[in-house]
Amino acid sequence: MTYRILVLVSGTGSNLQALIDQASRYGYEIAAVISNKSDAYALKRAQAANIPTYAPTRGDGRPLPIARFEEETLNILEQTSVDLVVLAGFMRILSARFVGALGVRAINLHPSILPAYKGLDTHARVLQAGDKYHGASVHWVTPELDSGAVLVQGIMSVSHTCPDALQADIHKIEHQILPWTVGLLRANLAVNTPIVRYFDNV
Ligand code: GRF
Repeated sequence: MTYRILVLVSGTGSNLQALIDQASRYGYEIAAVISNKSDAYALKRAQAANIPTYAPTRGDGRPLPIARFEEETLNILEQTSVDLVVLAGFMRILSARFVGALGVRAINLHPSILPAYKGLDTHARVLQAGDKYHGASVHWVTPELDSGAVLVQGIMSVSHTCPDALQADIHKIEHQILPWTVGLLRANLAVNTPIVRYFDNV
């Protein structure tokens, strides 16, 4: 049986692109993409891959209040059979009610070695702290922000002094670990201890 995922996005969607590109390699299918922003470039990527897209926004294109967006997303989920929800660069905080009502589990991609640096601006914060290592984590979504159990982490040495360059490196790691994690879940291989991969020469 095909393993189907629903992807939530807000922006550029480079991680969505990685999920699209590696779907057949890891044996899953992207059932739909939902964006809380109608102008998210991620929507174009999905459309180019013939994936159904939804952008439940206001008539004038402005984002819906989060409660309305969640309601619309639950409606879409009711009509779409999926095994997993993937937050890939989805930049709104979801309510506990929504997370509980999802019906399937959800994973989130976060640009830090969790539990360090939950929240925003992780790259700048890592540089400011002078950390030697940085990375990205894929974790279960729970009502508490960036706090669910970690499934997979990719770690690298920090070799930049500018947040944008650091972010570019982290993206390369994310583009590998997110599709890989979906593949692990599909194969029932995700374990209770996080899998940590070190990336050399990112
Ligand atoms: C990623 O770095 C992700 O970790 C963070 O937002 C970014 C999304 O990038 N939550 P993209 O839209 O997938 O290019």
